Amino acid sequence: MTDTLTPVLTANWGDKAPWKIAEYEKQGGYDALRKALTMTQDEVMNAVKDSGLRGRGGAGFPTGMKWSFVPQSNPNPKYLVVNGDESEPGTCKDIPLMMATPHTLVEGVIIASYAIRAHHAFIYIRGEVLHVHRRMQQAVRDAYAKGYLGKNILGSGYDLDVVVHAGAGAYICGEETALLDSLEGRRGQPRLRPPFPAVAGLYASPTVVNNVESIASVPSIIANGPAWFASMGTEKSKGYGIYSLSGHVTNPGQYEAPLGITLRELIKLAGGMRNGHELKFFTPGGSSTQILTKEHLDLPLDFDSVAAAGSLLGTRALQIFDETTSVVRTTLRWIEFYKHESCGKCTPCREGNWWLVQMLKKFEAGHASEGDLDKMLDVASNIGGRSFCALADGAVACLQSAVKEFRSEFEAGTHTPAWELFPYEKSALFAASERTAVAASHTSLSTSEAGEGAEEDAKVTAPPPLLNARDADEVVVAEAEAAGDIPTQLNEVFEPKTNDEGGRA
Ligand SMILES: Cc1cc2nc3c(=O)[nH]c(=O)nc-3n(C[C@H](O)[C@H](O)[C@H](O)COP(=O)(O)O)c2cc1C
Ligand code: SF4
Repeated sequence: MTDTLTPVLTANWGDKAPWKIAEYEKQGGYDALRKALTMTQDEVMNAVKDSGLRGRGGAGFPTGMKWSFVPQSNPNPKYLVVNGDESEPGTCKDIPLMMATPHTLVEGVIIASYAIRAHHAFIYIRGEVLHVHRRMQQAVRDAYAKGYLGKNILGSGYDLDVVVHAGAGAYICGEETALLDSLEGRRGQPRLRPPFPAVAGLYASPTVVNNVESIASVPSIIANGPAWFASMGTEKSKGYGIYSLSGHVTNPGQYEAPLGITLRELIKLAGGMRNGHELKFFTPGGSSTQILTKEHLDLPLDFDSVAAAGSLLGTRALQIFDETTSVVRTTLRWIEFYKHESCGKCTPCREGNWWLVQMLKKFEAGHASEGDLDKMLDVASNIGGRSFCALADGAVACLQSAVKEFRSEFEAGTHTPAWELFPYEKSALFAASERTAVAASHTSLSTSEAGEGAEEDAKVTAPPPLLNARDADEVVVAEAEAAGDIPTQLNEVFEPKTNDEGGRA
């Protein structure tokens, strides 16, 4: 455990143009590839195994071990697929990484593909982040031009082609088997396992699916050696990782630190809670992980310690909420996301999340009945562990843990609207006018920030909607109130469209 930041992946994010290949080479970029190509494939694989690197996409599976599962006796081609779908609420590390230093990922892709003896690799990027897609495409083009990709890489005799693929924008396509279906051109829905992708993945061939950050960590391991990487972190969670802090902290952002750093240390690095407010609860690894509270401020944020505390390290997406936040409202917003993103393949998740939203709206409006809380927990327990993939487990994890930690807030939903207990404007991060300004600023990104070709797109596309319908309602209400127009109550705007049984109105 330590409070020292260890910028490795983020070391050059503040430079002038760290995404350019010349800048990357100036910092020693592609030296790790040169070194890897002097090693045998097994030596590279063993170095990653010895480093103790565990997958940074959520589950924490040992990366080198995953690579070793690829059956080299299988005559089919081997594939590497990089998972850049990053859509979990609160998770914000892969997209900035690809935007700031895309060549770290390209270099990692080449080394990893070499180790598993793949000659084709795919980088799958979430559909909405067109600017990141452009940046990765440019990085891949530049790597081809410099002889890092293509035939006979750096005269080594090793060939590799890389395709950058944009998904259509679905959270479920981050689930590795849904991602593979999507990459093959089908509707992205999870596959039955086994067989696991390492045995029968893309086009039924052996495939390694790894997270962006996992693969981007590989060049540093090869360059500095596995012992260097393993010297950081904890006994079973080695190395460093990017922690994304969002919400009620003074300086939200990405903080790269050894695994095992505590939230107390991270909040300090982030300048403390905003305006001296107090921590109420947080997600350790995105909204699909059980919420934790200020009791856990000194919990080492590594895989095993967080699991022992009843949650998951996930993607180290620390969404921080202070005492002004309504847990009921927050949970509703998360479940609305899971309801929307459910792929519909199985009934408990498809229907159950819809039911949870209806019920939570009643709690939010103070219209829930006695017995609704037990009913809602019963619905949740029939979703988690009874659905096809982990999306459903994640969806109910936040709700069940929220009720466990803050039951009285849900009980209050039988008589008092959440917005009366926790006036929403108090937890809002920006005043309405500031938020409108932020929305406007989205249209004025420079080309360097938005990626090549973005200016052309900006002429033909509307500004990206920053606010969802509910937030937009709040802005309208807040602006009207500020102008002294109408003393509108939020509960008039948010009157739930449900009947007494929580069904469709
Ligand atoms: C609903 C769902 C969404 C997921 N989204 C992502 C994602 O966006 N990025 C990611 O790397 N892993 C995601 N995962 C985990 C992947 O299935 C897989 O475990 C991961 O890509 C493996 O990479 P790693 O071993 O390097 O962590 C998701 C899993 C689920 C169930
Ligand atoms: S649990 Fe949800 S997301 Fe996963 S397969 Fe079933 S319906 Fe699709």
